[in-house]
Amino acid sequence: MIAPLCPVCESRLQCGKAVWQCPAGHSFDVARQGYVNLLTVDRKHSLHPGDTREMVLARRRFLDAGHYAPIARKLKALLAAFCPQAQSVLDAGCGEGYYLGALGTFPERWGIDISKEAVRCAAARDKQAHFLTATAAHLPFADGSFDCLLSMFALTAAEEFARVLKPGGIFVQVLAGEKHLLGLKRIIYPELLEKEKHLHPELPHFSLLHSETLHFTFSLTGAEAVRDLLSMTPHVWRISRQGAEALAQTDTLTDTAEIVFNVYGRHPQEKLL
Ligand SMILES: C[S@@+](CC[C@H](N)C(=O)[O-])C[C@H]1O[C@@H](n2cnc3c(N)ncnc32)[C@H](O)[C@@H]1O
Ligand SMILES: [Zn+2]
Repeated sequence: MIAPLCPVCESRLQCGKAVWQCPAGHSFDVARQGYVNLLTVDRKHSLHPGDTREMVLARRRFLDAGHYAPIARKLKALLAAFCPQAQSVLDAGCGEGYYLGALGTFPERWGIDISKEAVRCAAARDKQAHFLTATAAHLPFADGSFDCLLSMFALTAAEEFARVLKPGGIFVQVLAGEKHLLGLKRIIYPELLEKEKHLHPELPHFSLLHSETLHFTFSLTGAEAVRDLLSMTPHVWRISRQGAEALAQTDTLTDTAEIVFNVYGRHPQEKLL
């Protein structure tokens, strides 16, 4: 098993059933749901960083309803094509664990998220995967630990991702495209501003091996489903009172997802600092 590192002194943790401990005596309890909190206070930028419990539960309901199943299928297909021999995968910003759950064929699946609520929800359901609270900006793993790394609608910390990937490892970055959820945006914004997005960023230590865009349409019925979709998007932070009122009147929505998949290869020989 991949041994995570102590977030205090960076030595390897001994992973027991109830407690994880390093040789220097720093110890971390395994929570009832099976996850471990390795987020130290100095790496938290607020008391409860990341998605809230409401956001996590909304995401779980939405994803469990299967609306984003085409994304999980495409992810599986890309990993099968680009790293067919892979044994280990890390999902950075894993949320409630839906995409990691679709990758059951990997012997080692790890998910980290800065939100304790997300990790708790993920660990309560998926007992075969390992979940940690940690920040993607400082991953509690030794250099060269993983074959594959994912960032699904979450942040990309290229230097850190390259560090924990094996040389030649694969990083799959999944982003919302420019036309993603136009139906939702038309309801909540009086006018749509054209904002240029960087959808194929150049990343240090990586080469872009492949990129493709997936489009699919899905339909929501019921006000709760519409609200859940909003809660999963960054629009939940930006919506105005008028936008929220307009959305509250909406109880059916057919929308189109536009999802960009970037597959990056970690440079094989390059030595990282
Ligand atoms: C848009 S959600 C995507 C969740 C999941 N990947 C999915 O697609 O269902 C972004 C996630 O990133 C997490 N997050 C935000 N900042 C983070 C950080 N610095 N390190 C790790 N996770 C972070 C949030 O808590 C949230 O769960
Ligand atoms: Zn330690």
